[in-house]
Amino acid sequence: MKPEFVKAAAILRESRNWVFLTGAGVSAESGVPTFRGQAGEPVWKEHWDASELSNPRFLRKDPAAFWEWMQYRRKIIEMCLPNAAHEVLGRFEKAQGEKFKLITTNVDGLHEKAGSKSLIELHGNIWRVRCTRCVYRSPYLGTDLSILPPKCPTCGQALRPDLVLFEENLVTVDLEQAFHKCNKTDVLVVIGSSNLVRPASDLPFRAYHAGAKVISINPASTNIDQISHVTINEKAAIALPIIEKLLNGE
Ligand code: OAD
Repeated sequence: MKPEFVKAAAILRESRNWVFLTGAGVSAESGVPTFRGQAGEPVWKEHWDASELSNPRFLRKDPAAFWEWMQYRRKIIEMCLPNAAHEVLGRFEKAQGEKFKLITTNVDGLHEKAGSKSLIELHGNIWRVRCTRCVYRSPYLGTDLSILPPKCPTCGQALRPDLVLFEENLVTVDLEQAFHKCNKTDVLVVIGSSNLVRPASDLPFRAYHAGAKVISINPASTNIDQISHVTINEKAAIALPIIEKLLNGE
């Protein structure tokens, strides 16, 4: 057993409350492409990169093409199942209740699929839609896609995915709650995030400066390593089940 796993389990055992922050890496073993550093990622059309496509300018300029791109992403994600890491996090929430909080920048919905309920989705969720004008918000399933972009059943304006696109602001209440949790927690475990996209990337530093112990789980080095009490250079779906076993005394 590698000592960093034992150390991580010991920190969790002695902490009253836990916050977990996940990025694209937690879904990598489910087959959802990460945003950075993965060769052979599927592309929608040649010569487009994700930052140009998942962008409010593209949505405004060509809403129908934007929806086609989102349909393409949904088709990939639809095929993916939660992996062992999502499942461990679902069980942690069940066992810890109020003492546990999961924050994610992922939009794939795999945490919910694995049973996570008390979840802050900082970048939204691709399986929800919202109106570009009124307060209408709804699950994506059941949306009438016969015309793109689909129309809001309440006010008739265009619907859009309930996502935070590049350069858009995060939902204030979600962001405030995430910072609040990171301010108060005894331990923050950051999993599978390159920690490059603000403001989510400020959360580990906030937790650290507020006195939390920081644990990083990522096969690669990130800027979180400099503030980590424990760095586990391992895939999430391997590391989390080991930590869970140690916590269960197995
Ligand atoms: P990135 O694609 O930037 O980073 C993925 C991270 O996961 C990298 O640090 C990898 O080393 C790590 N990783 C890869 N496989 C892993 C595995 N099996 N287990 C654990 N870690 C693994 O994704 P994010 O940091 O999540 O925002 O990107 C943040 C934001 O960038 C996204 O939410 C998106 C994008 O801009 C918006 O769309 C607004």
